[in-house]
Amino acid sequence: MLNRCSALEAGAAPRVQGGRGAPERRPAGVYPPCIHGVSPKRLKVPSVRAGRAGLFHIIRSGVHIIRRGARFPRLSRARDRLAATWFTTVPGPVCYAVLMSAVRIIQFTDPHLYGGERESLRGVATLPALNAALAHARARDWPPQALLVTGDLVQDDAEGYPHFRRVFGALGLPVLCLPGNHDEPEAMQRELSAKPFVLGGFADFGRWRIVLLDSCLPGSASGALSAQALAGLAEALAGAGTRHCMVCLHHHPVPMGSRWLDRVGLTNAAEFLDVVDKHSNVRAIVWGHVHQSYDALRKGVRLLGTPSTCAQFLPNSDDFAIDRRPPGYRTLELHADGSLLTEVVWVAQHCNGSSRSACSAA
Ligand SMILES: [Fe+2]
Repeated sequence: MLNRCSALEAGAAPRVQGGRGAPERRPAGVYPPCIHGVSPKRLKVPSVRAGRAGLFHIIRSGVHIIRRGARFPRLSRARDRLAATWFTTVPGPVCYAVLMSAVRIIQFTDPHLYGGERESLRGVATLPALNAALAHARARDWPPQALLVTGDLVQDDAEGYPHFRRVFGALGLPVLCLPGNHDEPEAMQRELSAKPFVLGGFADFGRWRIVLLDSCLPGSASGALSAQALAGLAEALAGAGTRHCMVCLHHHPVPMGSRWLDRVGLTNAAEFLDVVDKHSNVRAIVWGHVHQSYDALRKGVRLLGTPSTCAQFLPNSDDFAIDRRPPGYRTLELHADGSLLTEVVWVAQHCNGSSRSACSAA
């Protein structure tokens, strides 16, 4: 059975807060600010008094437009993403608890840290590369609601965990973790046992449930999900209610088209996918391990492999080969309607930036 992440409750639970000057109680005639289960977020814009009933389109800058003739509250896709449309039945103050239309998560994977701060793996100093990836993400669109790290936190070196804990523990965000084949299970458990780290189980953010699986086989580079893990997955999916689900693990559950890599994937992928297929609420499966970007759709479920924050593997190579692409990470925007927007970001100025793609998995 997978444990629900109690550590996340405070950060993950929807919060409703009025804007500056907003009344304690919701004014009569204003519809609840939480529509379709999305999470409100406080923005520093003043509340205003509506001179008449109608629809109010609210955006970050505080601009509001009254629309006549509309009858129902609905979400709006504004260019700056933080927007909502409210309907009031009578004139009155409009409380600026503005809606977030998506849950934002950033995935970092396979940092392969060592105890030594300058140690390298396949030509890349892993701790500086991770720091560079984090700094890059923090300079773009920060903060997300949570960070996700999908295994190989260390390179067979338990002394790497204190670095991981120091780097990720200072960010003030939940850090969802699962192990990879180069992790040290006991040390990982010991080092990441407290907030903000979440090791395994599942966590809910708005309309989404994130499920974290342990696919590691002791002493093996390939992986498998135990009967207990599969049962826990089925239980987490069945108990998700109306939430959409994203399932995360280290090993790839589908062939990558790379002979050597496909020998070390998820050995019981058929059983895993059978569980997924029995639950219509799974929208995405996300993994690490492959040190490259992968993006496909299977039976309406988005399949996403993510580059490492250090060295990459050459895609479609039958034999082991290093790709010269730089460190990378993935951003995920999980929308309330079950769709998602994702982007692989490469951390190098000489590279072409990113490969952004919209989702059809809703
Ligand atoms: Fe790895």
